[in-house]
Amino acid sequence: MNKESAYLLLNKYITTKSLLNHSQMVAIAMQAYAQKLKKDENSTHNWWLCGLLHDIDWEKYPEQHPNYAIEHIFPEIELPDEVQHAILAHAPSRTGVIAESEMDRYLFACDELSGFIHAVSLMRPTAYDGMKVKSVTKKLKTLNFAANVSRVDINNGVELIGEKLSDHILFLIDVFQDAKQKNLIN
Ligand SMILES: [Fe+2]
Ligand SMILES: [Fe+2]
Repeated sequence: MNKESAYLLLNKYITTKSLLNHSQMVAIAMQAYAQKLKKDENSTHNWWLCGLLHDIDWEKYPEQHPNYAIEHIFPEIELPDEVQHAILAHAPSRTGVIAESEMDRYLFACDELSGFIHAVSLMRPTAYDGMKVKSVTKKLKTLNFAANVSRVDINNGVELIGEKLSDHILFLIDVFQDAKQKNLIN
C-alpha cells in the first residue's frame, strides 16, 4: 500500500485532528528509526505504515481497538503480517500479543512517548524548537501532567529498544522539530 492510499484509508476512519496528528507523528518516528537502523526502502516504508495505521480504528471502535482493524480493515488492504503483528503488540492488554520483533518493539516505544512529547510541545510557544530532554523528563515525573499517558508503557518501551530514556527522547524531539518545520505535524 503506497503512502497516498494509506492516507486515504486513514482519513476514512479518522476525522479527529489530534488523532490524525498522532498517527502522523508515530509514522514519522517509526520511519526515522527505520532509517537509523539502516532498513532498506521497502521495510522503512512498512515501518512508516505501521506507525500511520496503528490507531486507525481508535476513533470509531475504541472498545475493539486494535482488534477491529485486524479483523475488518487490514484484510481488505493486505497489510504485511509483520505490520499487523506490531499493531497487535502495541496494545498487549487488549490483544494478548507481546512485542517481539524489532518493529513491534519500536512501535511500542514510539507510541506513548510521541503523545507525551506532543503534549509538552503544546505548553511551549515554540513547540518542539528548543525543547530540552530535561523538561520532558521533568514533566514525566509530574504525574498530573498528561495523566492519560502511561509512564509504565514509556519505560517499558525504552527497555524494549535497549535505549536510554534520554537518548530516545532526544531522538524524537529532533525528528519532530524537523517534521514540524516541514509542516508535516502540529
Ligand atoms: Fe493504540
Ligand atoms: Fe497511538
